[in-house]
Amino acid sequence: MKGVVLVGGEGTRLRPLTLHLPKPVVPIVNRPFLERMVRWMSGYGVREIILALGYLPDKIRERLGDGGALGVNLAYSVEEAPLGTAGAVKHAAGYLTDTCFVFNGDILTDLDLAAMLAAHRRAQAVVSIALTPVDDPTQYGVVEFDAEGRVQRFVEKPRPDEVRSHYINAGTYLIEPAVLERVPAGQYWMFERQLFPELVAAGERVFAFPTDAYWIDIGTPEKYRQVHADLLAGRLGDHLGNPHGDGLWAGDGCQIDPSATLIGPVALGDRVRIGPGAVVSGPTVIGADSVIGANAHVAESILWERVQVGEGAIVSECIIANDCRVECQAYRAILGARVVVEPGNRLDRGIRVWPERVIPRDTLRFG
Ligand code: GTP
Repeated sequence: MKGVVLVGGEGTRLRPLTLHLPKPVVPIVNRPFLERMVRWMSGYGVREIILALGYLPDKIRERLGDGGALGVNLAYSVEEAPLGTAGAVKHAAGYLTDTCFVFNGDILTDLDLAAMLAAHRRAQAVVSIALTPVDDPTQYGVVEFDAEGRVQRFVEKPRPDEVRSHYINAGTYLIEPAVLERVPAGQYWMFERQLFPELVAAGERVFAFPTDAYWIDIGTPEKYRQVHADLLAGRLGDHLGNPHGDGLWAGDGCQIDPSATLIGPVALGDRVRIGPGAVVSGPTVIGADSVIGANAHVAESILWERVQVGEGAIVSECIIANDCRVECQAYRAILGARVVVEPGNRLDRGIRVWPERVIPRDTLRFG
């Protein structure tokens, strides 16, 4: 079966992490996000996968190639300018001949795709939309549906007194390719705001597939950290590395000094080194070839690859991209690739440091 994954967004909310690396391949517990998604899809027989993209396409291609290593066939549909969610699928229409899945490429979920397909067929729907419940729908696109599951209305950010459904669009769809005839070629067009409401207005069979499956949009720093906490808590039963007991997973060739303290859940990539007296507490992920210096503290943080945390440095609730060197105290900071922060600095309050910046000794202090 075929699936189109929408991966053309610029991931602005995750900057600076996404300035050099598109959101679909940012690491989630040491593996590119899309790799996890592809494994989930292929587990349901969705093995002909079309990636619809435009932003940094080569960075995605060089990591995933033709999909052979993941047991799927990957094709790339590249937009010169972003065409929106429906426009992007229209652009890929040449690949689509039958019912197909469409996925937002920044959602981690364990949704049962087989059950969704069965419901789609039963309902003889032209479009099925997976929905997830939220406590407060006033910030989302809400979908109202009747007792049979047939979609009645889409309401964008309803006022509290307007709320008639707590279900929001979960970013997984099944579509019959014929509906794409309503999407103008080469134009920016959205499923949520244009095609789907238009189909409902025309009396077409658009169905809801409400589910309480695990569901999270990885697109903000808070959610990105939440995904890690959830995976390390075993929420999705993922393979996180070689288990070492007590909530510790480690890749190959790690060197942990016997005087270091690790308090799980902690996942280490390959060849991570942790120096004497260092303390690492979870939920924390440390990427391959990273080095945690003597007496350094790392807590509740996500470090990508080749990150160096200097002797005695503190890193807490941070997200740190590849090849950074941190020799200071960093709390709730987000560092782009290759940033260097020299000693005598204190980062705090969600500060975001753009790639390749060097913060010299004794420059930054908060409060
Ligand atoms: P932000 O800039 O942080 O909002 O991120 P985003 O644009 O990457 O994500 P958003 O939540 O707006 O979009 C949801 C999904 O659709 C993401 O996986 C995007 O990659 C994808 N997407 C959004 N717009 C386009 C587009 O014009 N073309 C394609 N191919 N994909 C898109």
